[in-house]
Order: sequence, then C-alpha cells, then structure tokens
Amino acid sequence: MLRLLTTILLACSLSCTASAHESSFTPKLDIGKGGKCVEDEATMRSHHYELIRHQRDETTRKGIRGGKYSLADCVDCHASKKNNSVLGSSENFCQGCHEYAAVKPDCFECHSSKPRKAAGGVK
Ligand code: HEC
Ligand code: HEC
Ligand code: HEC
Repeated sequence: MLRLLTTILLACSLSCTASAHESSFTPKLDIGKGGKCVEDEATMRSHHYELIRHQRDETTRKGIRGGKYSLADCVDCHASKKNNSVLGSSENFCQGCHEYAAVKPDCFECHSSKPRKAAGGVK
C-alpha cells in the first residue's frame, strides 16, 4: 500500500511539474521549418524584439541589408507549413506567442508574414 502511494505521488509530481513548466513559458507554437535559430532560445525569448529593432535601424538608416537578425529571415524559418505564415492562429509562431503575451506589434502591416520563396520572390 505504501509503495503504491509513493508511486502515485511520484508520478504526479513528475507530470505536474513538467506541465507547469511548459505552460508557465509559452503556448504551443508551430516553430516552422526548423534548423537553428540565430541565437539560443532563452536569448530569443527575451530579446528578439531588440535584435530585430536594431536590425531595422541598420537597414533603414545605414542601408545595411542581409544582417543576422533580418525579419524576412525570421519569417522564412518560422512560417508554419500548414498555412505558410507566421500569423493566422494561436499556433502560428509570432501571432501565437504575442496573443499569449498580449502584445501587438504592427510589423506585418508592411512586412510579409509569408516566406519569400512561396511569396514569389516578393520581399
Ligand atoms: C509602415 C510600414 C512598416 C512597418 C509598420 C514596419 N516596417 Fe520594417 N521596414 C519597412 C520598410 C519600407 C523597410 C525597408 C526595406 C528595405 O529597404 O530593405 C523595413 C525594413 C525593416 C527591417 C530590415 C529588413 C529585414 O527584413 O530585416 C527590419 C528588421 C524591420 N523593418 C523590422 C520591423 C519591425 C520589427 C517592425 C514592427 C515593430 C516593422 N519593421 C514595422 C516598413 C515597415
Ligand atoms: C534557420 C532558421 C531560423 C531562423 C532564421 C530564426 N529562427 Fe527562431 N528558432 C528556430 C528554431 C528551430 C527554434 C526552436 C529552438 C531552437 O532549436 O533553437 C527557434 C526559436 C525561436 C524563439 C523561441 C521560441 C520559444 O518557444 O521560446 C524565438 C522567440 C525565435 N526563434 C524568434 C526568431 C526571430 C525573431 C528570428 C529573426 C530575427 C528568428 N527566430 C530566426 C529557427 C530559426
Ligand atoms: C516565445 C514567445 C514569442 C515568440 C515566439 C515571438 N515573440 Fe515577439 N514578443 C514576445 C513578448 C513576450 C513580447 C513583449 C516584450 C515586452 O514588451 O517586454 C514581444 C514583443 C515583440 C516586439 C515588440 C512589440 C512592441 O510593440 O514593442 C516585436 C517587434 C516582436 N515581438 C516581433 C516578433 C516576431 C517578428 C516574431 C516571429 C518571428 C515574434 N516576435 C515571436 C514574445 C514572443
């Protein structure tokens, strides 16, 4: 009896911490194409907007293109294979996490939310 109880408690504590850990971080997101992100996951989570902001300034003020933190590159990798976009539902990469975090960047009013190749070469 004691052994059974220990097993149940152990199983619960394992699965409970596992799910609490996941949900305290992010919703379920469709990462997209895969590969390797431009920085490690923790850096990306907390600093991605500073990185792309900086990239934007480099491009729009100094004319430097093809930088490491290009927004078009983010979209190429992170667009879902299901709808070919980083937007569209709460599982789509950028939209999903932003809905969860209650932020609404306006970037995709101008920038494409679809990968470049599929968009027919249009930026
Ligand atoms: C009103 C339209 C508009 C909005 C809104 C906008 N951008 Fe841009 N963005 C541009 C234009 C135009 C360029 C210049 C493209 C070029 O010269 O290559 C640019 C360039 C960039 C670049 C450099 C090119 C690249 O793909 O890396 C980045 C990064 C960028 N924007 C990020 C952002 C982010 C992040 C947001 C949202 C916070 C945003 N932009 C919102 C119009 C916009
Ligand atoms: C070559 C493909 C690739 C590119 C380019 C890329 N990523 Fe990633 N990104 C990934 C993968 C794969 C992961 C999953 C974690 C890992 O394996 O590093 C990830 C993870 C992330 C995460 C963390 C997600 C989470 O669930 O915590 C964020 C945020 C992120 N990327 C944003 C960006 C932004 C913003 C850009 C553009 C500046 C970008 N990524 C460019 C492939 C990419
Ligand atoms: C793992 C969760 C997560 C993912 C995935 C994610 N973001 Fe974010 N993003 C956030 C959070 C949280 C904030 C708000 C940060 C703050 O204001 O402190 C934010 C803020 C931003 C901002 C600044 C918004 C503002 O109004 O100042 C931009 C730009 C941005 N994200 C772009 C992107 C792009 C582009 C993608 C997809 C390639 C992406 N993010 C994917 C969590 C995420």
